Amino acid sequence: MEAAKLFTLKGKTALVTGAAQGLGREIALALAKNGAALVLSDIDNPEDTAKAVEETGARWMAVQADITDEDQVKTMAEKAASEFGKVDILINNAGVSQLSYTATEDLSKTEWDTIIGINLTGTFLCCKNFGKEMITGGGGSIVNIASTAGITGVPRAPAYSASKAGVILLTKSLALEWAKYHIRVNAVAPHYLETPLTEELRASEKIYAGLVKQIPMRRFGKPSEMIGAVLYLASQASAYTTGTVIAADGGYLAQ
Ligand SMILES: NC(=O)c1ccc[n+]([C@@H]2O[C@H](COP(=O)([O-])OP(=O)(O)OC[C@H]3O[C@@H](n4cnc5c(N)ncnc54)[C@H](O)[C@@H]3O)[C@@H](O)[C@H]2O)c1
Repeated sequence: MEAAKLFTLKGKTALVTGAAQGLGREIALALAKNGAALVLSDIDNPEDTAKAVEETGARWMAVQADITDEDQVKTMAEKAASEFGKVDILINNAGVSQLSYTATEDLSKTEWDTIIGINLTGTFLCCKNFGKEMITGGGGSIVNIASTAGITGVPRAPAYSASKAGVILLTKSLALEWAKYHIRVNAVAPHYLETPLTEELRASEKIYAGLVKQIPMRRFGKPSEMIGAVLYLASQASAYTTGTVIAADGGYLAQ
């Protein structure tokens, strides 16, 4: 393929979970600007993202769904298929963090289950149900949004860390299992980003200063700085790449 066209998504349909705000919104817009039709999915109504995607001229539809509920994921897959025929690109971005930073000896099972349920089980359910369609449809590309927290441990955030480590090994396992179906499965691992998810951390000068001290680039990342990695993995630019994790982390993991 010509170098200039490596990143084009013309003729492709992409579904982004957690598209209502933050990184998901940024990813959805970038995919639309690169030519994809968009399925905007979130537990909340992604209407702001839909307005912005509409302005790019891309085709889109919005589906409200809780990714922890398999019936809702199945219905979402059916709705997407009936509107666009096939989802070629699945971006599993919806997620929650563990901002209570409770000492683990006091962490409730409810909080553990919620975080694992959304970040890991939700990602599995979307991979499973859209993967099934990709198998019969001749292939696709899945990009899972993991985290540096899935590679290094995080004190007082074991559920988040374990959920993202799970996402990374889910990514690798599916890459091995589905390569024969021409489905590539990869992940992006951001470190801290300037999104609504980290609002509380950024609101405290002391906490923010403590966190950026550990990052070689001395700042949180911007959602727009994750787009290159996502576009690479979603598009034909990465045609021979599967089962990999790209860290976009201000140098955090190089230490
Ligand atoms: N912000 C960071 O510092 C950071 C760092 C590393 C990784 N990440 C990961 O990036 C992804 C996006 O994070 P963000 O910062 O944009 O967060 P965010 O809180 O701004 O957005 C997350 C979105 O996911 C949606 N969502 C939550 N639960 C859902 C469910 N059950 N079903 C469907 N949608 C659901 C929310 O409604 C929201 O729109 C997450 O997977 C997160 O773990 C974020």
